Amino acid sequence: MHLPLHLLIVSSLLSSAYSWGMLGHRTSALLASRFLHPDAARAVRAILKPQSLVSASTWADYYAHTAEGRFSAPWHWIDANDEPPHSCGVVVKRDCPTKEGCIVSAVGNHTRRVMALADGDREKGLSLRWVVHFLGDIHQPLHTENLARGGNSIPVRFNGRHQNLHHVWDSSISEELVGGSSFRHAANWADSLHAEILAGRFANVSASWGKCLDPSRAEECAFQWATETNTWMCKYVLPMTWPDGFEDRELNGTYYDGAVPIVEELVATAGFRMAGWLNAMFTGEDGMEGILRAARDGLWENELVEEGGEL
Ligand SMILES: *[C@@H]1O[C@H](CO)[C@@H](O)[C@H](O)[C@H]1NC(C)=O
Ligand SMILES: *[C@@H]1O[C@H](CO)[C@@H](O)[C@H](O)[C@H]1NC(C)=O
Ligand SMILES: *[C@@H]1O[C@H](CO)[C@@H](O)[C@H](O)[C@H]1NC(C)=O
Repeated sequence: MHLPLHLLIVSSLLSSAYSWGMLGHRTSALLASRFLHPDAARAVRAILKPQSLVSASTWADYYAHTAEGRFSAPWHWIDANDEPPHSCGVVVKRDCPTKEGCIVSAVGNHTRRVMALADGDREKGLSLRWVVHFLGDIHQPLHTENLARGGNSIPVRFNGRHQNLHHVWDSSISEELVGGSSFRHAANWADSLHAEILAGRFANVSASWGKCLDPSRAEECAFQWATETNTWMCKYVLPMTWPDGFEDRELNGTYYDGAVPIVEELVATAGFRMAGWLNAMFTGEDGMEGILRAARDGLWENELVEEGGEL
């Protein structure tokens, strides 16, 4: 597998309109690396070489912004045609265009491709990068929403500055929380989420994390994740009908305070599921047991988190 060097470098410089910002993706990937089965970690490392999992997690955004990769942009979301905040819900037949695809079909397609393609095939490396990226994006509520282009057309303010609601959820909230978006910020955040998961902070939701970690039912599982993420549109993200009352609201205040635990839970969920998914893909082992054992042993943490060219 070889990816042109410029592509690896530029991918680490871009901030994006398509997904969780760099911080969310890096943190989920770093967190996932702490829950990987050693055999899965070895397989991932061999396929992504010379990139680490964390560097590879943001490649798909760069690629979607190129002329060559434009076709892959719709794979980063599913446009649920629901009516938040009154009613939420994803319906694949209605919301996932057959021709262009969406994040649910893309998780299915690229999971299958990673498992089917031969080692050394460049396409296998690309499909794995997509899977890792989409496991992040599918946990961002506005990536599961059609309204106002997933909130891109909802003008708000963040500390007085003009922003849109999509960007606030991709980046502003998490960057405000941890102080920046660098590799180092992501590593620190992943460390604390890892410790909190082991300490049981997410006990009320983590029971659902082990459900449907079955790559042979990839679309069905992705649909379940998207549906679960989408419920946040009604529960919090859009507290009132847009545009009435929401336009240009200042969000760095009580809205931010309420969003922080949700973002933490979503990023923790993404990282944990990413590990479970990769473990299942590469070892066939899909139980919570194996994931938690890997987390306790922490064997692969240092190797996968080695500092790459993007630091
Ligand atoms: C699956 O991925 C391949 C490689 O990117 C792409 O050519 C194909 O159109 C995708 N199929 C579906 C159904 O999305
Ligand atoms: C958000 O609000 C807090 C508290 O008022 C402030 O310290 C911080 O600088 C604000 N964030 C931004 C991005 O301006
Ligand atoms: C889990 O508990 C936390 C508080 O400990 C709460 O904020 C969160 O909404 C709960 N999540 C669910 C899905 O019940």
